[in-house]
Amino acid sequence: MKHLIDPTDLTLQEIDDILCLAEKIMANRPAYAEAAKGKKLATLFFEPSTRTRLSFEAAMLELGGSVIGFSSANSSSAAKGESVADTARTIEKYADIIAMRHPKEGAPLVASMNVNIPVINAGDGGHLHPTQTLTDLLTIKETTGRLSDLTIGFCGDLKFGRTVHSLIKQLSRYQNMRFILISPQELKVPDYIKEEVLDKNDAPYQEVERMEDVIGELDILYMTRVQRERFFNEADYIRLKDSYILDLEKLKLAKEDLKILHPLPRVNEISVEVDKDPRALYFAQAEYGKFVRMALMMKLLGLSVDEKDSAKAGI
Ligand code: CP
Repeated sequence: MKHLIDPTDLTLQEIDDILCLAEKIMANRPAYAEAAKGKKLATLFFEPSTRTRLSFEAAMLELGGSVIGFSSANSSSAAKGESVADTARTIEKYADIIAMRHPKEGAPLVASMNVNIPVINAGDGGHLHPTQTLTDLLTIKETTGRLSDLTIGFCGDLKFGRTVHSLIKQLSRYQNMRFILISPQELKVPDYIKEEVLDKNDAPYQEVERMEDVIGELDILYMTRVQRERFFNEADYIRLKDSYILDLEKLKLAKEDLKILHPLPRVNEISVEVDKDPRALYFAQAEYGKFVRMALMMKLLGLSVDEKDSAKAGI
């Protein structure tokens, strides 16, 4: 395991190991406080981020390591025309591991092909977001107790939403998962996800336009925002942006044990009144993201901790 560019770079066993390590970290945080002592993470974010960048940075700091990086293309030499490959080859001299977000699909892959340190895709254009997927898996596992036998509704911008593409790719590898894809016609899941992922894995799915028609069948409702930054035409964005608004009235139709996830940021698609409902998990989900990134970086850097030794040493 060297880079994480696509969720399928990891075997199901490797993913299970990462989730189990995240659970151990959550249960005994002091034992991991020096796990990455002396290690440096570089966060190379060519696109805006709150959760991914800061949870990566918090994760490395909580492991006792340190962090360097930039949070926009304009504050790096990309603004002067430097290539992704040259940036990565330079950062390799300064850091032990890279987390990269970039508006161009495939940019983290290019970085990974040019360095000998692990590169993690922290979101590439409308393509994939594998560490959000690990976050979502940990949230689902912790709150339902399983990663099988679930009906999952994805709602909103399923065309441009990289978190959706990544999570469908991963969940379709588990047993007895059923997918309900809720979107306007213009924002449907791309054909390659249906043909190369869902059909290939024999994962049952249906496409619908009205959330109210299917919300009662769902174990998980994965809400997403309409991705303004990926639209070519502002008028289309304005027309589609409020296609779905989850409110308490619609939630009356849902199961009592529904889990509502959202990768965040939220715009209008979940009314704030829903936040108090025990089924709303999206802020807990953001916290799981830090623990799963701690576990991922430990695995990619080949780090381990003997919890008994840590306890003896008083760490
Ligand atoms: N979920 C997610 O990727 O959030 P940010 O864009 O804030 O990192």
